[in-house]
Amino acid sequence: MRKFGIIGVGHVGVTVAYTLVTKGIADELVLIDKKEDKAISEQLDLQDAQARLDTSTIIKIQDYSELKDADILFLTAGKVDAAKETGSRWAEFEYTNAIVKEVAPKIKASGFNGVVIDTTNPCDAITQYLQKSAGLTTTQVMGTGTFLDTARMQRVVAEQFGANSKNITGYTLGEHGDSQFVAWSGVRVNNHPLVEFAKQQGKDLNYDDLEEEIRKGGWAVYKGKGYTSFGIATCAVKLAQAVLSDAQFECPVSCYNEEFDTYIGQPAVIGKHGVEFVNEIKLTDEEKAKLKNSAETIKEKFATM
Ligand code: 2OP
Repeated sequence: MRKFGIIGVGHVGVTVAYTLVTKGIADELVLIDKKEDKAISEQLDLQDAQARLDTSTIIKIQDYSELKDADILFLTAGKVDAAKETGSRWAEFEYTNAIVKEVAPKIKASGFNGVVIDTTNPCDAITQYLQKSAGLTTTQVMGTGTFLDTARMQRVVAEQFGANSKNITGYTLGEHGDSQFVAWSGVRVNNHPLVEFAKQQGKDLNYDDLEEEIRKGGWAVYKGKGYTSFGIATCAVKLAQAVLSDAQFECPVSCYNEEFDTYIGQPAVIGKHGVEFVNEIKLTDEEKAKLKNSAETIKEKFATM
């Protein structure tokens, strides 16, 4: 049985749940939320949908003990209106800080021993706290981190240079936050280095402008709809599929970096155990300095938890 837990059935959590159910990825789903009536409603709504689907998913709610034999657990809790009130997307930290401190002991007590995928922000700090407090290994616990920011890099570069975003390779690394950076030295379009491709297209290449648009990608979505959901949920589900199928899928995720002693967005290989290993890649000295700076920023946030 492919069994998933989702803690936090807000916009991101329900998009993950809907994807797992409609794509037939989950045999069993446990929805947990601080508001029981929300969990009940999402369970009923998904059960209504199942009458029209070729897939079947058993959907349970609110019971942490049901996590014991779950394969994957998503933490997708957040408080989007906190950002509206303050104008900063990271303002919800006070709220999410409290959430992770509430749910971590419950996860530990449930006997859960699968793989955790965190989307709750600030992603890197929350993911590290979860790993340390839920009694799980650094292999078992990852965050979506810059996997989503890399998707935004692919979108922005594809738009700028007229390519399919799937054919943009390379990484946004570091914090899933303002100190993130694109490792431009490794970005390729249709398997050509970006610099060459831009020349072929006769287009200017302004790294700073591109990077600013990528860094603000989440905010651009947030401004119009008050939250983000499809990009982040698709990234989370993609990671879950890589675990379930032991895909040995290489991608940037928020995972533990020994040198910096912090979780941070870095290339890793994802398989049945979770983070199988960190994939050391070539970075320029400037990129290495940006990664170190980002690690310091994450550690400062973690230190306030
Ligand atoms: C984002 O950047 C939710 O943090 C996530 O869209």
